[in-house]
This record gives sequence, structure tokens and C-alpha cells, in this order.
Amino acid sequence: MPRRNIQTVETTSGSIEVYAPPARAYHWIVVALIAIQVPIGLYMVYRGGTLNIWDALTNNLYSSHKLLGVIILAVVIARLAYRLRAGAPHPEPTLEPWQRSVSEITHWAIYLLLLLVPVLGYVGVSMYPALNIFGAFSLPAIAPPDKATAEAVFYWHGLAAFALIGLIGMHVGAAIFHYAIRKDNVLGRMLPGALRKP
Ligand code: HEM
Ligand code: HEM
Repeated sequence: MPRRNIQTVETTSGSIEVYAPPARAYHWIVVALIAIQVPIGLYMVYRGGTLNIWDALTNNLYSSHKLLGVIILAVVIARLAYRLRAGAPHPEPTLEPWQRSVSEITHWAIYLLLLLVPVLGYVGVSMYPALNIFGAFSLPAIAPPDKATAEAVFYWHGLAAFALIGLIGMHVGAAIFHYAIRKDNVLGRMLPGALRKP
């Protein structure tokens, strides 16, 4: 029997189970951090790798991306520990069985990539090695220096990041579909302000 982390909200159409406040806080904090991290990653690689401009701005973008990346890794580990301990609400009652399965698989795949992407980035900068942040301090190395392997690890870091972006696109599309077309309470479970209160 999976654990259930439920907050119940009374609406005029009955009581609805929503994610508890810590689960909602973790969700939206990670959304905000990823929304900053991905554009920095794409722009720094374009500026450094494609345009070959290696000035202070490019270096600061790399430093920001590395620092924010390890912060995201720490937040995701805390979030997953909380999720495994506290569980989640029962599935939205109007979902069909295939929709429940697809949403569960998508959520766990997103969690997996939220761990894999920053770990690959961190292993890559450890091996390169490029651990310095803003010329001020260095991250502790988690792998021995090996430049050739680092290049391969960066390739997989980028590929996994694009897979994560693709899954997030599906996930957000599903949230909008449920809210705007099916007009059910799926979005309200993570954003109670969006609950239907006829
Ligand atoms: C969830 C967290 C992270 C996300 C979503 C993310 C995303 C990305 C993206 C989209 C790119 C550009 C890939 C490309 O255009 O080919 C990138 C590149 C890069 N990331 Fe991350 N990243 C994350 C965490 C980290 C961490 C923790 C580090 C290191 C401590 C890191 C180091 C790098 C480096 C060095 C590159 C450039 C690789 C290259 O030159 O090919 N990233 N990242
Ligand atoms: C970086 C972007 C995002 C990531 C990484 C992400 C990740 C996740 C994960 C892992 C879950 C599963 C929660 C759990 O059961 O523990 C989840 C649930 C949810 N997310 Fe997101 N999310 C993102 C963006 C969004 C956005 C923009 C929306 C709304 C437009 C949204 C709406 C929801 C909703 C409604 C749920 C609950 C689904 C349900 O009740 O089954 N998410 N999200």
C-alpha cells in the first residue's frame, strides 16, 4: 500500500485531495530553478562552443550554471527523500487507467533525469577538470581527471538535458490539457488556486 501525502480541500463539488504544502513548494522551487538553469546552459554553450567567445561573461555563465546545477541536485535529493517518505495523493478520480500509468511513468522518468542530468554535469566538470566557480572557490571533485572521458560525459549531459526538456514539455502540455480542455482538477492538485470551485 503506497504512502499517501494528502491535504484535503473542500470545494462546492465535494472534497478534493491535493499535494501537501511541502510537496507543492518543492515542485515550484524546482520549476523556477530549471527555468533559469536551462537557458543559461544553452546560451553559454552557444557563446563559448559555437561563437568561441571566451570572455568574462561566458566564464560567469559557466560558473552560474555549475553552481546552480549543484544547488538543484541538492534540492532534488531532498525532494525525492521527502517524496519517498511522505508519498502522494490518490490519483485524480476522473483519470482513465492509461492516463494514470502514463502520468506515473512520466513523473518517475522526470525524477530520474532530475538526478542524472546534474550528476553527469558534475562528473564532467570533475574529469575535465573545470571545478572553479567565479574564480572564488572550487567544487570538490567527484571523479579523477580524464579529459577525453569528460567530453563524452558532457555529450550525455546535454542529451539527458534535452530528454528532460522534452518530458517537461509533455508534462506541461498535459497540465494545460487537463485545465483548459478536460476542465478537471489535475492542475489544482499542485496549484490549489486552479481548483474548480463552481
Ligand atoms: C538539472 C540541472 C542541469 C540542467 C537542466 C543542465 C542543462 C544543461 C544544458 C541544456 C546544457 C547545454 C547542452 C548543449 O547545448 O549541448 C548544459 C551544458 C553544460 N552543463 Fe549543465 N545542466 C544541469 C546541471 C549541471 C551541473 C551540476 C554541472 C556541473 C557542476 C553542469 C555543467 C555543464 C557544462 C560544463 C556544460 C557544457 C558542456 C559542453 O560544453 O558540452 N550542468 N547543461
Ligand atoms: C521544470 C519543470 C517541471 C518539473 C521538473 C516538474 C516535475 C513534476 C514531478 C516530478 C511531478 C510528480 C510529483 C510527485 O508525485 O511527486 C509533478 C507533478 C505535477 N506537475 Fe510538474 N513539473 C514541472 C513543471 C510543471 C508546470 C509548469 C506545471 C503546470 C502548468 C506542472 C503541473 C504539475 C501538476 C498539476 C502535477 C500533479 C500531477 C498529478 O496530480 O498527478 N508542472 N511535476
